[in-house]
Amino acid sequence: MGVTLRGVTRQYPGIRALDGIDLAIEDGVSVALTGPSGAGKSTVLHLIGGMDRPDSGTVEIDGTELTPGRLDAHRRRIGFVFQRFHLLPALTVLDNVVAPVLPRRVDFDRKARAMELLEGVGLANRAGALPSELSGGQQQRVAVARALINLPGLLLADEPTGNLDSTTGREIIDLLLTLSERYGMTMLIATHDAEVAANCDRVVRLHDGRIVSDQQVTPAADVLDRLGGLRP
Ligand SMILES: Nc1ncnc2c1ncn2[C@@H]1O[C@H](COP(=O)(O)OP(=O)(O)OP(=O)(O)O)[C@@H](O)[C@H]1O
Ligand SMILES: [Mg+2]
Repeated sequence: MGVTLRGVTRQYPGIRALDGIDLAIEDGVSVALTGPSGAGKSTVLHLIGGMDRPDSGTVEIDGTELTPGRLDAHRRRIGFVFQRFHLLPALTVLDNVVAPVLPRRVDFDRKARAMELLEGVGLANRAGALPSELSGGQQQRVAVARALINLPGLLLADEPTGNLDSTTGREIIDLLLTLSERYGMTMLIATHDAEVAANCDRVVRLHDGRIVSDQQVTPAADVLDRLGGLRP
């Protein structure tokens, strides 16, 4: 799924949360959204996710403007991972993953896909557990599986590693990147973690509601190739 923002602004009383954002993200690319607290990262994710509306400017998905009438359908076609995992405490791991499937629209065996996803995140053996019986990293892995249950073309993650230690956070990011590649998803991750950002294809930095830098990440392998080419 491709995403384009044109001249997007979002205001709160006395605050310009977003002050003219122009951003084009190509289908299948992973982008890290960085910048200090209050820069506008979550606001961008909410606008792209159809959970909030811009005051001016447009958000386009695959070239089509995200108008109010399209929001519901759009929200069903994306996946969202939050900093606090937001699992439903009374449901088992498996039922949490299945939960976002809308009953009348099911065209696949939802429990089978949920189990497949739980296998993908290494938690098939905990399908019957309650969230309270899992570690933080395991809960976030359930949240990742849940975000993928509708096979979204776009995965939005808002500081998905913010509540995890660095090793576990690293595992979650590797998992997100692996899954986004496997399923051909576009991915946008808001993060404070430079290492997370370095593993994405592109890093967009916000400050005071504006984009202050936008860089392509050069894969380490390419750097080594180029260095190799310089050798006599
Ligand atoms: N519902 C709201 N009401 C008023 N102001 C808000 C609201 N949501 C966000 N803001 C303001 O908009 C600005 C951008 O907030 P946003 O949450 O997008 O920042 P962020 O980059 O995600 O920060 P953090 O790294 O702390 O999560 C901030 O100044 C914030 O206070
Ligand atoms: Mg935020």
